[in-house]
Amino acid sequence: MENELLRLKQEAEEALGGVQNPAQLEAFRVKYLGRKGGLLTGVLRQLGAVSPEDRPRLGQLANDIKQAIEGRFDEKKELLGSALQAGASGAVDLSLPGRFLPFGKLHPVTQVMEEICSIFEGLGFAVAEGPDVESDYYNFEALNIPKHHPARDMHDTFYVTDSILLRTHTSPMQARIMEKQDPPLRYIAPGKVYRCDSDITHTPMFHQVEGFLVDKEVSFADLKGVLTSFTHKMFEKELALRFRPSFFPFTEPSAEVDIACVICGGSGCRVCKRTGWLEILGSGLIDPEVLKMVGYDPDVYSGFAFGLGVERIAMLKYGIDDIRLYYENDLRFLSQF
Ligand code: FA5
Repeated sequence: MENELLRLKQEAEEALGGVQNPAQLEAFRVKYLGRKGGLLTGVLRQLGAVSPEDRPRLGQLANDIKQAIEGRFDEKKELLGSALQAGASGAVDLSLPGRFLPFGKLHPVTQVMEEICSIFEGLGFAVAEGPDVESDYYNFEALNIPKHHPARDMHDTFYVTDSILLRTHTSPMQARIMEKQDPPLRYIAPGKVYRCDSDITHTPMFHQVEGFLVDKEVSFADLKGVLTSFTHKMFEKELALRFRPSFFPFTEPSAEVDIACVICGGSGCRVCKRTGWLEILGSGLIDPEVLKMVGYDPDVYSGFAFGLGVERIAMLKYGIDDIRLYYENDLRFLSQF
């Protein structure tokens, strides 16, 4: 009987080694471990006929072999189960590489924002950041936009209370910095801004980079020079710029700057509203009233300021024709950048 048990153990182990799928495993269980007719169970039943002196030793051996085979059976079952869960056909290919965690990337708007900042830093501008939740004073009053001024309508403002709001532009940083420091100043202030606005070129939250410079004898020519140099560096080619007269209560004179639409090459498309141009920023010479409010003498100092729309630049740089794509969180879109 001892030989019979040892032979059965070897046979069962070999059979288990060849099992490759759940159906084969079940057939193995029935053949060796099945309660009715299982080969091992059959041998165990014969123990009753063994002489009383041999019975304890053979009984122990039979139990050890049964437990060993059951243990191997359970291991195999677990292995096949995880292979099935992984979608494999049942066989486990241990040579396959493991599953890697995907790497994250910076959002394309963040990448463009960092590039804009680094170009201006190269032109000697320092970087400063301010709060998204802003007071009515810095967002409007300090920028020469008193209560009930019609220019407030240009900004579809999200108010938190009567005097607290989500900043509608990064221009409050002009007043915040100027009231703390004396000229000469050369700053950029990147950040999020908020307006109740949404279509293919507008989102309710977007990014701006404010830039301003105050010194003696600053002129519009300095503003043009800085913006032209920035645009050529940003787009790595000499794109046409158009300075269009405009109005901002905190700059005089004021201009909006358009760039030749890189999506249609200037021939007209839905992004540039068939004009061939896309507005990327507002700018101008800082209004003497704003300088006075922070205690500067406008007869001594002058300055220029501009506010760039970062998503607009990112649209032009990457040829994206709908700004909302940046905020749909579709990884197929975002992972291209
Ligand atoms: C301003 O916000 C002024 N503060 C800019 C400025 C600064 C003028 C300093 C003078 C001196 P404007 O509302 O035009 O201006 O916005 C500036 C830029 O932000 C626009 O040219 C455009 O590129 C972008 N922009 C405006 N609204 C949205 C929006 N809803 N979604 C995405 N980009 C926008």
